[in-house]
This record gives sequence, structure tokens and C-alpha cells, in this order.
Amino acid sequence: MFRDKRMWTVAVMAVSIASLLFLSCAQTKVYTEEELGLRQETLYDESSAMPVHGEPIMKEPGASAKFERSFENSPPLIPHDITGMLPIAQTENLCMGCHMPEEAGGTGATPIPKSHLTDLDTGKDLDGKLAGSRYNCMSCHVIQTELTPTVKNVFKGGFRDEKGHYRSNLIDTLNEGVKAE
Ligand code: HEC
Ligand code: HEC
Repeated sequence: MFRDKRMWTVAVMAVSIASLLFLSCAQTKVYTEEELGLRQETLYDESSAMPVHGEPIMKEPGASAKFERSFENSPPLIPHDITGMLPIAQTENLCMGCHMPEEAGGTGATPIPKSHLTDLDTGKDLDGKLAGSRYNCMSCHVIQTELTPTVKNVFKGGFRDEKGHYRSNLIDTLNEGVKAE
């Protein structure tokens, strides 16, 4: 009796393992490396892969025109040539030389806004000093490049007032809808 029961258990286990193996084999689809990416090209060759590298803006600061913002308070694109201005180093940041509010008047550059001169973690006004987190301008501001053909994009940015298309007011609107105790 005992012996029969044990054999029965072994048989049931064997059938279950066999069917599990069968099921997992049936469900496993093997993807080739070419099928893994969205671009459906081999991942080992860049020669025919998009994106293409566009032409960066070469106009000198002061000779170019601002780009419209993508959406309210988005980081504006850099509309001028930045050749020779990079890299931004610990001891040298040429961007600040034109864009810090005390310099901007003389150079015609848009002054760095108040949001960059505030510690946004504590809300502390840094009294005209740049917040450390804003030092590397290039981590948020990028230069505009011209692509041919342009990539289709149906994104439509929202703006609550006309000025927002070309200027920021983040520091005034940041706490909108927030009730501080
Ligand atoms: C020689 C002065 C000068 C230097 C250096 C400079 N800029 Fe500018 N920047 C300008 C001027 C002037 C404008 C206004 C538009 C124009 O005429 O090109 C401007 C516009 C901009 C704008 C667009 C502002 C807006 O509201 O749309 C951004 C962003 C910007 N610069 C970022 C930078 C960054 C980042 C660097 C450093 C890599 C830099 N700039 C270096 C003079 C300068
Ligand atoms: C952490 C991201 C970040 C960094 C770093 C940063 N910016 Fe900005 N910047 C923004 C955003 C977002 C805006 C738009 C909202 C705002 O005003 O804060 C902006 C706005 C601006 C404007 C437009 C101001 C206006 O009144 O319209 C200028 C000019 C500018 N930044 C220059 C700079 C320069 C120069 C540096 C480097 C010294 C820098 N930013 C670093 C995110 C950044």
C-alpha cells in the first residue's frame, strides 16, 4: 500500500515537471540582437542609424534671436554659438560672464533668472549668488540644432500668458496651488 502511494506521488511529480518544461519551452521566443532595439538595425553599426547629427547654430551671441519656449518655464534653448565656451570648469564658467545679472546689462544677454539664484530646497534667497546645482548650465540648456528632415512632433506646450513664450517666471509661480502651514 505504502509502496503504491509513493510510486503514485513520483508519477504525479514527473508528469507535472514534464508539462512545466513543455509549457516553458512553448512560451519562450528567442529574439535576435537585431530585433531587440526599436530601430531594427544591428546594434553594432551606427552608419545608417538615426538620429542624424544636425547643424548647430553658429550665430554669435547678440546676433541671434531667442527661440520660443517649448512650454511654460521650460529651460530655453541656447540660441548662439558656444564654440570655445566649453567645458564649464570649476574655475571657469564663461556663460556666467555674460549671463549673471550684474553682467547681462552690458552684454545684451538674458539675465540668469531668480530661480537659479535661490536655494530651491530651503527657499533661501542666495543674495545674487548662483545656486551650486545651476553651475553646469549645459545639464539643462542645450543648443538648437537644425535637422533635415525635421522629426515630426505633435507636442503642444501650454502657456498661461503671452510673456511665457519667451520669458520665465518660475520663482513667482513655483508655489502656485501649494498651501504652506
Ligand atoms: C558673449 C556673451 C555670452 C556668452 C559667453 C554666453 N551667452 Fe548666452 N546669450 C547671450 C546673448 C546676447 C543672448 C540673447 C540672444 C542672442 O542674442 O543670442 C543669449 C541667450 C542665451 C539663452 C536664451 C535665453 C532665453 O531666454 O531664450 C540661453 C539659454 C543661453 N544664452 C545660455 C548660455 C550658456 C549655457 C552659455 C555658456 C555655454 C552662454 N549662454 C554663453 C550672450 C552670451
Ligand atoms: C537644473 C537645470 C538648469 C541649470 C543647471 C541651469 N538652468 Fe537656466 N533655466 C532652467 C529652467 C527650467 C529655466 C526656465 C524656468 C526658470 O526660469 O527657472 C531656465 C531659465 C534660464 C534663462 C531664462 C531667464 C528668463 O528670464 O527668461 C536663462 C538666461 C538661463 N536659464 C541661463 C542659465 C545659465 C547661464 C546657466 C548656468 C550658469 C543655467 N541657466 C543653468 C534650468 C536650468
